[in-house]
Amino acid sequence: MAYYFSEPSHTFNEYLLVPGYSSAECMPANVSLRTPIVKYKKGEESALYANIPMVSAIMQAVSDDRMAIALAQEGGISFIFGSQSIESEAAMVSRVKNYKAGFIVSDSNVKPDTTLEEVLKLKERTGHSTMAVTDDGTANGKLLGIVTSRDYRVSRMERSVKVEEFMTPFDKLITAPADTSLKIANDIIWDNKLNSLPLVDDKQHLVYMVFRKDYDSHKANSLELLDEHKRYVVGAGINTRDYAERVPALVEAGADVLCIDSSEGFSEWQSRTLEWVRTKYKDTVKVGAGNVVDREGFRFLAEAGADFIKVGIGGGSICITREQKGIGRGQATALIEVAAARDEYFEETGIYIPICSDGGIVHDYHCTLALAMGADFLMLGRYFSRFDESPTNKVNINGSYMKEYWGEGSARARNWQRYDMGGDKKLSFEEGVDSYVPYAGSLKDNLGLTLSKVRSTMCNCGSLSIPEFQKKAKITLVSATSIVEGGAHDVVLKETSSTSK
Ligand code: IMP
Repeated sequence: MAYYFSEPSHTFNEYLLVPGYSSAECMPANVSLRTPIVKYKKGEESALYANIPMVSAIMQAVSDDRMAIALAQEGGISFIFGSQSIESEAAMVSRVKNYKAGFIVSDSNVKPDTTLEEVLKLKERTGHSTMAVTDDGTANGKLLGIVTSRDYRVSRMERSVKVEEFMTPFDKLITAPADTSLKIANDIIWDNKLNSLPLVDDKQHLVYMVFRKDYDSHKANSLELLDEHKRYVVGAGINTRDYAERVPALVEAGADVLCIDSSEGFSEWQSRTLEWVRTKYKDTVKVGAGNVVDREGFRFLAEAGADFIKVGIGGGSICITREQKGIGRGQATALIEVAAARDEYFEETGIYIPICSDGGIVHDYHCTLALAMGADFLMLGRYFSRFDESPTNKVNINGSYMKEYWGEGSARARNWQRYDMGGDKKLSFEEGVDSYVPYAGSLKDNLGLTLSKVRSTMCNCGSLSIPEFQKKAKITLVSATSIVEGGAHDVVLKETSSTSK
């Protein structure tokens, strides 16, 4: 006879947190959201932490290098999508690793014989008024001078006049050596009242520009997530087919953590992949696995050597797996059971394997609930797809701006490896849809608001860290009637207020 679970499975919407005592020191500013990403032994540190418990989904419509940089600047991690060629995924990873916050490879460069007319056109095209003058007009040519809008007066000068006649020449410029640290570069900028500082090598070739405004924004990212070489941390998706080629390329490109991207993780394909990585890299390369929704699935992946385990089947916003195949489990119930399995495994073995709640986060408070229920961190797709930094088009639909968002199991992504059960190399039926989500602006602003709600709720529950919150949280199931009570009710709204999700 089939096994029947004794309880129905529930979603986040069906739960609420009950506040606990908060002391005077329980202020949002004192809350730390630092969280382990990969497994560790009792009494030791994890090899990788994030400063906020948010990672972006392994999806074409969500995680490319631009998203990865923006999220690492806020303290989280993106997992670059794996449903692309090995070369292009590795190139995205290496663009993140080579991005030096505050050090800009100059994108507006001219030659000494460029005319004022051309300078004005370049300024209009790029929006940048500072231009490097190099011998060959490239970003790394020999630096001969700098042109800014203070060097010319359009009303008084001929458009045909050449840059060499009005630029600030090299011998009048303040420059610094290529290996100058960002802090020292900033001191030079401040001491000399500069707007920009060129860094040059010993042959006078331009290497980077440092701008006053970029340094200010860099300093504003106090939670940014950096590796030991001060490069942004980035993750990448892999699959259970081409790992022998993909993993070495991603490791070579500098990926800090990998994750097997699959709709269903309780499979021999995953244990084979984990075994291969462990044998080849002797535990130096960290790999998460999933997704699972119960204790048995967790134990299987834990014993197979996963560094973290993702939880969730069928709860994603673009997911139609439950309709197509009838498999899945309410996300909250799945998470609660897997969190208990993680704690049980920790008791038994002294090994703590972080779990990630993947998919189904709709409201900001769902993030808080998922953490309270035991998630160490959360993976979100729809949430991040709405921002400027996601790789998809922003389109105007009936007067409202939308961003495109499609599932990895949709005909558009054709990520057949994610649904691979050892069959043909094709997607035989869809498990995801192609959709729009309302455009929401910048990642920084939205994430800032979401996390301030998370911190504030943690304070209501008397907690200053995620582990403390997981111990102290009191959670209640709510009846269908009290869900109605939770929204504005029995009043006539004057106007639709903006509901941040
Ligand atoms: P969301 O945050 O609710 O949009 O869910 C994102 C999660 O949905 C991803 O991290 C994946 O686990 C999952 N997912 C991505 N593409 C598909 C799909 O096409 N079908 C089902 N689930 C998907």
